[in-house]
Parts: sequence; C-alpha cells; structure tokens
Amino acid sequence: MKFKFFDEINSTNIYLRRQLKLEEFEVIVAKKQTDGRGKRDSVWISNEGAALFSFAVKDDIELDEKITIFAGYIVHEVLKKYISSQDKLTFKWPNDIYYENKKMCGILCEKARNHIIIGIGININNTDFGMFREKAVSLVEITGKIHPIQQIIEEVVSNFENQFHSLNKNWENVLKIVNENSYLKGRKIRIKQRNGKFSEKEYRFLRVDRRGRISLIARGDSDEAKFTSLEFKVI
Ligand code: BTN
Repeated sequence: MKFKFFDEINSTNIYLRRQLKLEEFEVIVAKKQTDGRGKRDSVWISNEGAALFSFAVKDDIELDEKITIFAGYIVHEVLKKYISSQDKLTFKWPNDIYYENKKMCGILCEKARNHIIIGIGININNTDFGMFREKAVSLVEITGKIHPIQQIIEEVVSNFENQFHSLNKNWENVLKIVNENSYLKGRKIRIKQRNGKFSEKEYRFLRVDRRGRISLIARGDSDEAKFTSLEFKVI
C-alpha cells in the first residue's frame, strides 16, 4: 500500500482517472476536495475531517457485479469497530453505509484503463454537510469523539487488499452479511421510471442477489423485479 496525500484536490477519483498508468492499491488521500463527486454526477460535500480517498484495482469481468457491494462490506466491517450500537450501521444498496436514517459513507466505483477506481468518502470528524445537513451523519456525531482519519483509511484499504483475492470464494458470506444488515429490509420503495417520475407502485425490498442486483417485489405481482442499477426512494 502506497499513499499520496493532498491538502486540497478537485477529486481523488478524477486524479486517478487522469493518470496514464494506474498502480493497484496506490491510495490517493485528500483533506478537502473542491469537486467531490458522487453517483450520477451528484456533489459530494468534501470538507476537512472526512476520509476522502481513492485507489484502483485491475478490472475483471467477474468483479464488475461484486466490487461495489464488496467495497461497502469492507467499510462496514471497519466502521463497526468504532461504534457501540452496531445494529444501527447498515448497508443501503448498492454501497452506501447508513447510521440509523442518515448516510455516513458513499462509494463511487468507476472504470478507467482496465482498472476499477474505488472512491470512498466517510464522514468521520466533519459536521458541516451543507445542503445534505438533514441526511448525513459522521462518526464524531455518533460517538462524541474525534477519530484518527488516516488509521481508518489504512484499515479499509488493508482489509480490502487482504480479502480481495478471496472475494469469489467468500462471496456468499459477503452477501449474507449485506442482506442481514440491509437498511432496506422491511422498507417500501418507489422506483424511478424512464419518464423520470417515481412509480405509483410500491415495491418491497427482498434481497441483494448473487449478481449484486437489487431484488424487489410489488404488491400484487408474482415475479420479482431485479435491477443492476436503479434510482429509488424509500417511503
Ligand atoms: C455517493 O454516495 O454518491 C458516492 C460518493 C463518493 C465520494 C468519494 S470521496 C473520495 C472520492 N472522490 C470523489 O470525488 N468521490 C469519491
């Protein structure tokens, strides 16, 4: 594991995307990002006190469907150690980590030059979430204590690196933990349709399946609906 530190950068994911050659597990860490990005090109508030980092692994067809879930699983495993009410720490498919009803960590996986870049943002000692004030939470707010950011980053990357090679072998176990600790368990959702509107139909979350898809069922339907990618809102 090698590190490159920046006091300020546009985005650790953008930095790696622009490298001509990517080196596996070289970790880019920033104190602040001026253009932090989330899924679907959303903004990721990147103030000092958060863990903001990215690294790359070689791409592989089999990995595609698993990597994003696996990254969430690893972060969850690390954060659990710092929190006493561990059952409040959950996975929200595909790879967010929630504490109660608020988001604590977001992960952005992107492809570049035969690699997958994994960008992780964890709210640790930061408390300013701008417009996401009502929807975000950090470790300091949960525990009342300041935590060592670099240590948490190292734990995440080393756990990732150690377990990455046995990902296929251990996949059933990863899925079991993700499903047992799912934020969506027992919740109903509306899904975003092609016309951009949310469905009238209410869906119930069933599970994350072996291919990393979300499996849902609507009232009155007999067949499960499975999605690789989906926008939805919890109701
Ligand atoms: C999401 O929940 O939408 C994903 C958020 C990912 C944020 C991290 S912070 C480090 C890395 N650099 C970025 O610009 N984004 C990711």
